Amino acid sequence: MTTAKKVGLASVVLVSLGASAAYYSATMALRGYEVHTRTLGYLVLGLVAALTSLILIIFWRNVHRTVNSIVSQLDRMAQQREFGLIMTEGDDELTLITQPLNRFLTVVKEEIARLQAENREAQIQSRIAEAEKRHTEAIVFSISDAVIVTNRFDEIILANEAAEKLLGFSFAHSIRKNIDHVIDDGRLVRLIRETRSSGQSQPIGAARSRLTRRIVEHSIDKKGQPKTFNVTLSCVMTPEGKVSGVVAVLHDITREKEISQMKTEFVSNVSHELRTPLSSIKAYIEMLLDGEVEDEKTRKEFYEIIANETERLNRLIENILNISRIESGVMRIVREPLNLAEVAKRVIEVISPQAKAKNITIIDRVVPLYHPIEADRDMIYQAILNLASNAVKYTPNGGTVTISTGVDERRNMVNCEVSDTGVGISSEDLPRIFDKFYRVKGHTKLAKGTGLGLALTKQIVESVHNGKLYVTSEAGKGSTFTIELPIMR
Ligand SMILES: Nc1ncnc2c1ncn2[C@@H]1O[C@H](COP(=O)(O)OP(=O)(O)OP(=O)(O)O)[C@@H](O)[C@H]1O
Ligand SMILES: [Mg+2]
Repeated sequence: MTTAKKVGLASVVLVSLGASAAYYSATMALRGYEVHTRTLGYLVLGLVAALTSLILIIFWRNVHRTVNSIVSQLDRMAQQREFGLIMTEGDDELTLITQPLNRFLTVVKEEIARLQAENREAQIQSRIAEAEKRHTEAIVFSISDAVIVTNRFDEIILANEAAEKLLGFSFAHSIRKNIDHVIDDGRLVRLIRETRSSGQSQPIGAARSRLTRRIVEHSIDKKGQPKTFNVTLSCVMTPEGKVSGVVAVLHDITREKEISQMKTEFVSNVSHELRTPLSSIKAYIEMLLDGEVEDEKTRKEFYEIIANETERLNRLIENILNISRIESGVMRIVREPLNLAEVAKRVIEVISPQAKAKNITIIDRVVPLYHPIEADRDMIYQAILNLASNAVKYTPNGGTVTISTGVDERRNMVNCEVSDTGVGISSEDLPRIFDKFYRVKGHTKLAKGTGLGLALTKQIVESVHNGKLYVTSEAGKGSTFTIELPIMR
């Protein structure tokens, strides 16, 4: 029975009691028991009033307890941030409110659980995305090629150090700025923009990504030095197939281009150099075969020319082979402890007759060296001989050639220096004399040569023996070539 019913019932009982008491009092009064019956009537009425108050207090206390219980349960849930069910005792009206409240709380609880799960999933996804972003950044930053990534508004969103250095901007200050305001290279900016817009105009699908990747050769002038790059431009696609940006990778191909250019030049130079002595040999042999030369003296002269040209051809082929053997790493190198001073002495002995023929004085400043080098004897001999032979070749009659040795203990190096009082080399020619086949124009009349001696010497000293070959020279005054080699440990 609900509280209201209980109260109703109690009221009916009380009213009936009250009414009966009143009736009884009235009847007694009419029959003549005046004082006594009135007192009894008041007593009954007072009793009824006291009972009514008691019932109301009990009823109110019940309601109060239930409300308090609901409030404190709700407070506890709020404090603990946990939704549960509200428990009430008895079956009064207030418990009727708790049922829908509990249904509501259950729905809220389920909704919160769903949202929490979604939130957890979103957090995991965000962490994965963050980790992937960091991975991508680490890859981009570790690439030696310049990399620039732009978004669909042509704003820079990623660039590595190589790109900053190459294009002269700071990524930290350029993030989310339009490439127009960051990159000075107008063509590169155009290429990035074109790639993005051409990607957008392609039909959506797998073909789009294939179509929107292209490689363009592009030159950038870096501090006055032109550099060539292969620029790979690709569109970044969203899962829906829309263009969300462009990745531009600039790969430096300057060295490759130079090498391929050098190869072409080398082949054409070799053919040219081989053709000259060969055609000379062919011409003289033909004259001899045709019987055009009658006297023995001229015939002997022709034989000598043929022998000289053959010798030149032989030297040329030998030099070309040695250079390419060193470059390709197939040259057999026999390293042994070697005294540089001894090798220099041997060169002086060998070169002296040639110097004498030109009335050139050889000054021997070779001092004994107590620090051996670890080197290939024949190669080092060949290198010093090339320098000495040049000194004699490019020094006019009556000049001097000085060959000396020394040690730099602080740097752990020994050296051999060949200096002459010859024609010298101008500052324009100086950077090129170590190139294969390069001969200073005015010098070709002075002496025969293939233009390979210094290229070979440099290879021997620097590539094979980890040393250094230096030159100082002044046109008309003479030159000094120095070979420096590390002391054996
Ligand atoms: N001591 C020097 N004085 C002046 N010019 C020099 C001297 N040494 C080298 N050169 C210049 O450098 C060029 C290249 O020298 P390199 O020794 O490579 O070739 P080459 O002497 O002409 O021919 P080869 O292959 O027979 O040595 C020479 O042609 C010459 O013009
Ligand atoms: Mg030479």
